[in-house]
Amino acid sequence: MCGIVGYTGNKSAKDVLIEGLKKLEYRGYDSAGVALEDNGKLEICKAAGSVGDLEKTLNGKFNTAGLGLGHTRWATHGRPTDENAHPHYSASREIVVVHNGIIENHQALRDRLSIEGGYEFRSETDTEVLAHLIEEYYRGDLFEALRRALLDVEGSYALVAASSREPEKLVCARKDSPLIIGYGDGENLIASDIPALLTHTRKTCILEDGELAVLTADRVVVYNRQGDILEKDTLEIDWDLEAAEKGGYDHFMLKEIMEQPVAVRETLRQRISAGEGKVSLSELEFSVDELKRVEKIFIVACGTAYHAGLVGKAVIEKLVGIPVEVEVASEFRYREPLLEQNHLVIVISQSGETADTLAGLRLARSRGLNVMAITNVVGSTVSREADHVLYTWAGPEIAVASTKAYLTQLIALYLFAIYLGESRGVLPVEEAMGLVKGLQSLPGKLNSVLNEENVARLKTYCDHLAKWESAFFVGRNLDSPVAMEGSLKLKEISYIHAEACAAGELKHGPLALIVDGIPVIALVTQEAVLDKALSNIQEINARGGEVFAIAQEGFDDVQNQVDSVFYLPPVHNLLTPVLSVVPTQLIAYYAALARGSAVDKPRNLAKSVTVE
Ligand code: AGP
Repeated sequence: MCGIVGYTGNKSAKDVLIEGLKKLEYRGYDSAGVALEDNGKLEICKAAGSVGDLEKTLNGKFNTAGLGLGHTRWATHGRPTDENAHPHYSASREIVVVHNGIIENHQALRDRLSIEGGYEFRSETDTEVLAHLIEEYYRGDLFEALRRALLDVEGSYALVAASSREPEKLVCARKDSPLIIGYGDGENLIASDIPALLTHTRKTCILEDGELAVLTADRVVVYNRQGDILEKDTLEIDWDLEAAEKGGYDHFMLKEIMEQPVAVRETLRQRISAGEGKVSLSELEFSVDELKRVEKIFIVACGTAYHAGLVGKAVIEKLVGIPVEVEVASEFRYREPLLEQNHLVIVISQSGETADTLAGLRLARSRGLNVMAITNVVGSTVSREADHVLYTWAGPEIAVASTKAYLTQLIALYLFAIYLGESRGVLPVEEAMGLVKGLQSLPGKLNSVLNEENVARLKTYCDHLAKWESAFFVGRNLDSPVAMEGSLKLKEISYIHAEACAAGELKHGPLALIVDGIPVIALVTQEAVLDKALSNIQEINARGGEVFAIAQEGFDDVQNQVDSVFYLPPVHNLLTPVLSVVPTQLIAYYAALARGSAVDKPRNLAKSVTVE
């Protein structure tokens, strides 16, 4: 995710852009830049760093510019550097572009432009390709050049461009990444999200996929991809700024839970071909021999990332047939693990800055082992020190409680397991096809889990749960690590003392804590152990526990044995954690809400634990 702001009007474009970009920093903040129209030229000022740093650099400059576009970056292609910051110039420096999204065929376009067109690239980004491509088609009409260029482009984009030959005009286009027009009086704006507009206008129009627009100070025209003019409804925004930054949700955590279908889709993008059942992870630089030599994997992480690793263990062992140890990083780094050269260490970290995980990474590297990082932050310390990086594309995660990052960590682990199994020739094609098709179906299935009716049901359940000071999460097999994650979510934001337990372990002690009415959330998705899970539920019922089951559709016996059941849409058995964790996230959220906790910033916790 990145933040884009464009402005044309009678105010200082610089001021409008800086103020708007600051309100979009939650969408990305590793680098920032603006292009401002100044005496017939488009001057770019950009650098790695925050919008505040950019503001200082601009101090006293370009005060009279009435047109400009700006960008705050969340790096995907290319590290957070000055050169990779947006905006990007075309070769002639007459056209500038900012972009949010991923140009999937950027390499082919880059090759074509440099070989056939002699274009020289200054950055590692996919966005720069757009600037040169628009120039290639420019014949005096910027809108037409953009429209024509996009016919060559595959991928997702929200982009804004300007040309010094048409200095009164902003042109923009949207596919899969958001763009919203703000209508002013003698001024018009374009932005990735509403917060950047609210100081100037509440009259907006949301561009739909495939739509383009041309903005001047006194006119906005919206087109379809064929260049036909469209009549668009306007939308009056009545949110206050704080609500707008959360996309209208009350908390970042809920917004990020709801963003999970998109986060999963983006993390899968360009990495699966369902038709062949193939996974391609071109960003990894393992040789096939290296992958074949791996005899054991250690997954090292903390907290939620550790719980993702537990799912990864089950999946990798099942699909690849090699042993996987999952280690809490704070233990791994001090216990002198038995590491050998043919072991692979995978570190998982949303922030890429967690001290314990980083220490685990450095220990592995000091022993000469190959280290792969799964992280959500491009350019993070973990990403720079690992030998290989598999990014999750969840976008910035603001809430302390990790949700969408966790889900995309699971996706990254599934992708790696399939990739490793295929590379080692041990994963049958049919099995890979089934898994890849299952992965591809996840965004749609997540949307159905997150439908209004389900969310309302879970909210009602939490009114009851919130009255308790303790609760249990139980599960067997793949449901056990999900129980652990659900328990962590509930305890860290609602402060209810939630405990996770492998369901088969209850009788070995925890059953003593099952008292009349105590809430027990039971994950029941694994057919192989369904009978056992049902008998564990009977054990709980017999002691008066109140069971809320999260079960696979079709497990009809469950509803006869529990107080309420939340059925999940059917999905490949190995992929059930991606769906079953979501109700537990919503349970944690609504329980915390009912108890008046500070949902996004729970007591005693930090988003990234950069100290031991
Ligand atoms: C997750 O909800 C917690 N906030 C916490 O356990 C977190 O997962 C852990 O600190 C690891 O963070 P990282 O993924 O950034 O390394």
